[in-house]
Amino acid sequence: MKLTVVGGGSTYTPELVDGFARLRDTLPIEELVLVDPAADRLELVGGLARRIFARQGHTGRVVTTSDLDAGVDGADAVLLQLRVGGQAAREQDETWPLECGCIGQETTGAGGLAKALRTVPVVLDIAERVRRTNPRAWIIDFTNPVGIVTRALLQAGHRAVGLCNVAIGFQRKFAALLGTTPADVHLGHVGLNHLTWETGVRLGGPEGENVLPKLLAEHGEAIADDVRLPRPLLDRLGVVPSYYLRYYYAHDEVVRELRTKPSRASQVAAMERELLAMYGDPALDEKPALLAQRGGAYYSEAAVDLAAALLGGGGSPYQVVNTLNRGTLPFLPHDAVIEVQAAVGPAGPVPLPVPALDPLLTGLIANVTGYEELALEAALRGGRDRVFRALLAHPLIGQYAYADALTDQLVAHNREHLAWA
Ligand code: G6P
Ligand code: MN
Repeated sequence: MKLTVVGGGSTYTPELVDGFARLRDTLPIEELVLVDPAADRLELVGGLARRIFARQGHTGRVVTTSDLDAGVDGADAVLLQLRVGGQAAREQDETWPLECGCIGQETTGAGGLAKALRTVPVVLDIAERVRRTNPRAWIIDFTNPVGIVTRALLQAGHRAVGLCNVAIGFQRKFAALLGTTPADVHLGHVGLNHLTWETGVRLGGPEGENVLPKLLAEHGEAIADDVRLPRPLLDRLGVVPSYYLRYYYAHDEVVRELRTKPSRASQVAAMERELLAMYGDPALDEKPALLAQRGGAYYSEAAVDLAAALLGGGGSPYQVVNTLNRGTLPFLPHDAVIEVQAAVGPAGPVPLPVPALDPLLTGLIANVTGYEELALEAALRGGRDRVFRALLAHPLIGQYAYADALTDQLVAHNREHLAWA
C-alpha cells in the first residue's frame, strides 16, 4: 500500500507517523510519501519519520519529495494536511476580525472564510492531479476548514472524506471517565465540522445504552472544563457541545480574551521552531511530548482507522467523518457536508440515521450550512460581493457594516493568495 501525505513537512507529521507505526497491523503501509514544497522541513521531518519507523520495527519505506505529481502517483490514499500561507496567514486570520469586535479564529467566522478562500483552489488543484494518476485513490482531508474543503472536493466529483479529531478526542475522554475502552464508546455526534454536539454516548455500539445523562451528572465539571463552557450551561443543553461552540455561546467573552492574549498562531509558531530543532537531532526516534500541546492529538488514530476502512483492511465499522448529507439531516440540502457517524467501507462512508434534533441545534446548523455554501461560492468564483454575502450569512457577523469592513480586511490581508483580488 502506498500512502501520500501532502503537507508532509508539517511539524504534525511525526504524530501521524507514530500512529502508522503503532497501528501497522490495521494499516500495512509499504511506502509512505511525504510531499512538501519546503525542502528544509521535509528533510528534518522525513529523517525523524524514518527513525520512528525503524525504532518501532516498521519495514515501510519513507520517501520525501517536493514533486507533487511524483508523490501522489499510484497512491492508494492521499492525506491532505496543508496550510496555505503557513502560520503567518493564520496569524492574520486571528487578528483583523478582532478590530470589528468579531472572533479571530482560523476556522470560525471571518478568519475561517479567509482560510477557505486561500485553500479551496489549492486543494482542488492537488485533487485533480491525484485523479489523473489514480482515479480510485481516496482523498482524506484534514485541511481546514474541513467542512468547506470537503464540500469543494465532493462537488468536483472526487473520492474524498473529511476528517477532524474532535470526535475521537471526546471518545477517549468519555472512555477514561467511564472506565472503559474508546472502542466501547459510540458517540451520537452531529453537526458540521467545528460545529458539533454529542447528543448521546452509547456503550458497545449505536444500539447500546445511552449513558450521557449519567456522564453529565457524574462528570459534568470535567467535561465543562474540557470544552471551556460553564457546567450549568451543559446541564441546560443536555448535550455536550464541542469547544468550537464556545465561539458562539460565549462570543463576546472570547473576543475580550483574544484581545488580551498572544495569538494561537504565534504560540504555535514558537512551538514549531522548537519542534523542528528537536527533529534535527539524530538521536530522537519518537514523537516528542511537546507535540501533545498541539490541538491535533489522536488525529493519527482517526486517520489510520479511516484509511484502513476505506482501503478495505478493517478499521472501526463506524467512524465520525465529514461526508454528504443525503437526507441524514432533513432540514439541510442533500449536497451539504455534515459531520456525523457513518458506516465506512471501501465504497465510502454512509451516514447512520440521526434522531430528530432540538431546534436549538438545527437553527445554528442550518444557518452555518448556508454560510458554508456561500463561502464555497466565494472561494470558487471570487469577487468582493460573494465574500460579503458569505460574511453577512455568518451567524457571528450578520450586520452589513461589519460584513463590509471585514470584506475589505479579508481582501487586503490575502491579496497574494486570491487570483481575483
Ligand atoms: C483541533 C482541530 C483541528 C485544528 C487544531 C488546531 O485539532 O480539530 O482542526 O487544526 O485543533 O490545533 P493547533 O495546535 O494548531 O492550534
Ligand atoms: Mn478539526
